[in-house]
Amino acid sequence: MVAPSLLPTVDRYRPTARLLHWAVAALVLGVWPVGFVIKFVKDDFKNGFYFLHEGFGFLVLWLMLARLLFRLVWPPPPEVPMPAIFARTAAVVHALLYVALIAQPLLGFLMTNAFGFPFHWFGLVEVWSPVGKDEALGAVLKQAHIVVGYSILVLFALHLGGVLFHHVLRRDATLYRML
Ligand code: HEM
Ligand code: HEM
Repeated sequence: MVAPSLLPTVDRYRPTARLLHWAVAALVLGVWPVGFVIKFVKDDFKNGFYFLHEGFGFLVLWLMLARLLFRLVWPPPPEVPMPAIFARTAAVVHALLYVALIAQPLLGFLMTNAFGFPFHWFGLVEVWSPVGKDEALGAVLKQAHIVVGYSILVLFALHLGGVLFHHVLRRDATLYRML
């Protein structure tokens, strides 16, 4: 067993911020592939896939808004010492992840409404939509949902690359800030 004094000591994100980070990470890693395979799934199973994708995808919107609010009130601890360029790159990727993870569920939600399917969150509550049936708008929103969907994939790859860069190459304590 490692003596506690040998464990890296680092200012971590607050427990709530860590909980929200991992909850959103788990949701996105599930929601993304489910959305991707919907078009290949047999019609008998499609509704179940839509139910999961849309229900948990919409949850991401609220968790991200909660995260944003939390972050504004309680900013993250100062980052581990590193050249400014690394800190700035990470800040840009993080900011783009926030934007994409708020935009994506909104686009999906508006898209289903534009295609004429009012959204019932987990079959429980019908969520009010500013958009009614409008197939042409639906097609535009669908394209946007696909583009933002792939952008999330690229941002996630950059994010994971950054984490590995810090942990394996620089061997600094960045990863521990979120554990
Ligand atoms: C963070 C949340 C979300 C992510 C990461 C996400 C991601 C994706 C991805 C990757 C696709 C596949 C795109 C393609 O065909 O290549 C997709 C499709 C789709 N998404 Fe989402 N989505 C999210 C939230 C939502 C929400 C909240 C709704 C609706 C309430 C929604 C509705 C749809 C629909 C209707 C499709 C098209 C499925 C099909 O017919 O092929 N998405 N999504
Ligand atoms: C699966 C493995 C993942 C690991 C190991 C990981 C690790 C980390 C770490 C260590 C940080 C803190 C970075 C710092 O101190 O500057 C962080 C922040 C962040 N991560 Fe992840 N992450 C993962 C997945 C994800 C996923 C799937 C998403 C979203 C798609 C995500 C979005 C974010 C965002 C937005 C931040 C910035 C948080 C803030 O400053 O408010 N992460 N992550």
